[in-house]
Amino acid sequence: MYAQIVESTGKAVKTLNEMEGEERVFQERINAGGKIEPKDWMPDGYRKTMVRQISQHAHSEIVGQLPEGNWITRAPTLERKAILLAKVQDEAGHGLYLYCAAETLGISRDQMFDQLHSGKAKYSSIFNYPTLTWADIGAVGWLVDQAAIMNQVPLQRSSYGPYARAMVRICKEESFHQRQGFDIMMKMCEGTAAQKRMAQDALNRFWAPSLMMFGPPDADSVHSAQSMAWKIKMNSNDELRQKFVDAVVPQAEFLGLTIPDENLAWNDKKGGYDFTDPDWQEFMAVIHGNGPCNRERLAARVKAWDDGAWVRDGLNTHAAKKRKAAKPVAG
Ligand code: 3HC
Repeated sequence: MYAQIVESTGKAVKTLNEMEGEERVFQERINAGGKIEPKDWMPDGYRKTMVRQISQHAHSEIVGQLPEGNWITRAPTLERKAILLAKVQDEAGHGLYLYCAAETLGISRDQMFDQLHSGKAKYSSIFNYPTLTWADIGAVGWLVDQAAIMNQVPLQRSSYGPYARAMVRICKEESFHQRQGFDIMMKMCEGTAAQKRMAQDALNRFWAPSLMMFGPPDADSVHSAQSMAWKIKMNSNDELRQKFVDAVVPQAEFLGLTIPDENLAWNDKKGGYDFTDPDWQEFMAVIHGNGPCNRERLAARVKAWDDGAWVRDGLNTHAAKKRKAAKPVAG
């Protein structure tokens, strides 16, 4: 039995002793490390939380193509262009596995797109920041994909089967993405003084937004307590943020770059770095549609959807014709 945890909203998460019937069997299965599959009984709140998290994650992958896709035509060499193209295609694939995983919970793809395009659904705050230089593509791979891996590796053990399984392949590919980003940063840092300045500038701009990717501080996280009890989330937002900082600091030292935080210092007692919180007011503005690129990102997705209408119409018409042709003739 897990200990009672109290959400920041003040609402208590039920203990096993307070549950009975199907709810108790469900929680016991989760506590024992079992997986929940689409046709299994689940509480409405679990279904709702899974749909929210998986669809937000899928939207993040799809919107996340935009800041990098922006650099495909300007990549400095043919090799870099091919690598970036493959990475952006991987993100589309991740979005598709995740939309499929969410569909197993009873929401349709059209409903999810509608939520994204109307601004109702969230996607990761990080993709509302611009990629101004080629070094930003390095920083996105190094920092953003690393933050994504930090968060997603534990999700391979999360309780919802289709989500956990999708995460296995996604994590393998994210790991390649992170390495290609670090490789760009290494090249820039070994290059001219101007290239190294570009790398430092990219780190300066992407550092705080990368810390925000893990979500609000634990004390302000609305969903963490219940999601951790259901093993939808395996770690708290602050735990993962700390892990990320501890991993990135030595990498920055290796590159010869400076983390833009005067308060960054090793803390022997906690066995990790102390660091300055990002600006949480800025975070709230970004996740509520008022970041530097929110409007541009959403407009690009809506345009892609509208421009693709003729393809969807054609495919639907073709599928309907095939269904009609396959119908056995009565008689
Ligand atoms: N960006 C946007 N919204 C965020 C956010 C962020 N970085 N962090 C938190 N939020 C939102 C939550 O969605 C929630 O809003 P809602 O109630 O309207 O849905 C609110 O802020 C409160 O936050 P909580 O901590 O209570 O929310 P969660 O328990 O859901 O934790 C999370 C947030 C850690 C992001 C969690 O949802 C999660 O682990 N999601 C799965 C991973 C994911 O979505 N990653 C996206 C990263 S980008 C990516 O993978 C693309 C790759 O190519 C780099």
